[in-house]
Amino acid sequence: MRDSFEKIKEKLSTLSRRQIILGGGTLAAAGFIANQRPAKNAGAHNDYFLSLQNAVKQANLARPTLVIDKQRLDQNIATLRSHLRTGMNYRIVAKSLPSLPMLEYVMKETGTNRLMVFHQPFLNLVATRLPDADILLGKPMPVAAAARFYDELGRGRFTPARQIQWLIDTPARLAEYAELATAKNIDMRINFELDVGLHRGGLREPGELPALLNAIDAHPRLSFSGFMGYDPHLASVPGVLGWQASAFESSTGLYKAFINQAKSHYGDRWQQDQMTFNTAGSPTYQMHEESTHATEIAVGSALVKPTHFDVATLDDHVPASFITTPVLKVRDKTEIPALEAIGPLTRFWDRNSAKTFFIYGGNWLAEPVSPPGLQTNDLFGRSSNQEMLNGSDEVTLTTNDYVVLRPTQSEFVFLQFGDMALFEAGEITDTWPVFTQGA
Ligand SMILES: Cc1ncc(COP(=O)(O)O)c(C=O)c1O
Repeated sequence: MRDSFEKIKEKLSTLSRRQIILGGGTLAAAGFIANQRPAKNAGAHNDYFLSLQNAVKQANLARPTLVIDKQRLDQNIATLRSHLRTGMNYRIVAKSLPSLPMLEYVMKETGTNRLMVFHQPFLNLVATRLPDADILLGKPMPVAAAARFYDELGRGRFTPARQIQWLIDTPARLAEYAELATAKNIDMRINFELDVGLHRGGLREPGELPALLNAIDAHPRLSFSGFMGYDPHLASVPGVLGWQASAFESSTGLYKAFINQAKSHYGDRWQQDQMTFNTAGSPTYQMHEESTHATEIAVGSALVKPTHFDVATLDDHVPASFITTPVLKVRDKTEIPALEAIGPLTRFWDRNSAKTFFIYGGNWLAEPVSPPGLQTNDLFGRSSNQEMLNGSDEVTLTTNDYVVLRPTQSEFVFLQFGDMALFEAGEITDTWPVFTQGA
């Protein structure tokens, strides 16, 4: 009897030990999972974004608005200028700052009339409205688009024969442009696209050049005006083991080899001062502070710094473009249609999905930046009408407050909001119309 009593006692104590171990394990697992959860982000607008919100409210911009911070734009312009060696020219990438008054402003502040243009309707607009511009095409246009440019160009001061360089990437395209020049009886300046490592097309070997230059020489209406070698890939090459430096050397080495080939082709007839040797883009322009082979760098995005340009090579530029939009609805939980039951689980896992804010508009190429911790919900889906944003229970936004986003790029996003609003010293001081895509 006593034996069996002892056995039961022992069994009970074993059981409870196991239970304790199991219970402890569950707790440890829960603790582990809890530690793995995304960090809880929260906060209110900081002073800067609060002042931005007040400015758009004051200006009655209760709709999605593209805002340019003028002082920050000025700061970026000053930064750009500080990196240009004497004699290095600046060409504005018009697609990245797609607004006439904005281009005029940057032209004035940087003292340049050089623009890089990428779209036929914009080309006609710029030629008409900025008749002193010096234009280099940023991509090889279909010859039919070039023809249309001439067909639509009204009378005015702008002289395409002097003020445009058409970009050519292949012998076939050069032949098409030669035919156009003959058919329209017009002079055309030809700039060749070089593949200096990006592999997006263009000439790869200096050996390709003589045949092309011979074809230009043989045509009474064509002239050679230079090269364009865009090199943004250099910014993504890791700096370790000197990889970036050697990629830069080989890219610029190839560019120089093209220049030497052209020089030796023309011999005594070489006119260096007539040449445009364009290079760089926002992420690489600072690498060219000492470059002497290039006559100019092309930069647009760095002046407004969308999120794709948050790169080490642009550390001294500041974000100057934002989207502000009102909050329409606030909910204290997040519900996904037909998945209501897993709400508590997702809320436990990601505390930043605790609350829901529906905003006016959405689904832009943009990322929410203020208040901190807002995120889109891929389970719910994106919406251009009323986008769902989620935040933690500490996000204190209420209806009619504003959310601030940063565009990921400027060239397309800037065109989606109507006039841009200029934010300066705490106020919206002006508006700048943007380009329209074409009649
Ligand atoms: C040919 C060329 N040059 C320069 C740029 C640089 O533009 P951004 O400074 O806006 O990046 C681009 C951008 O697409 C380009 O295609």
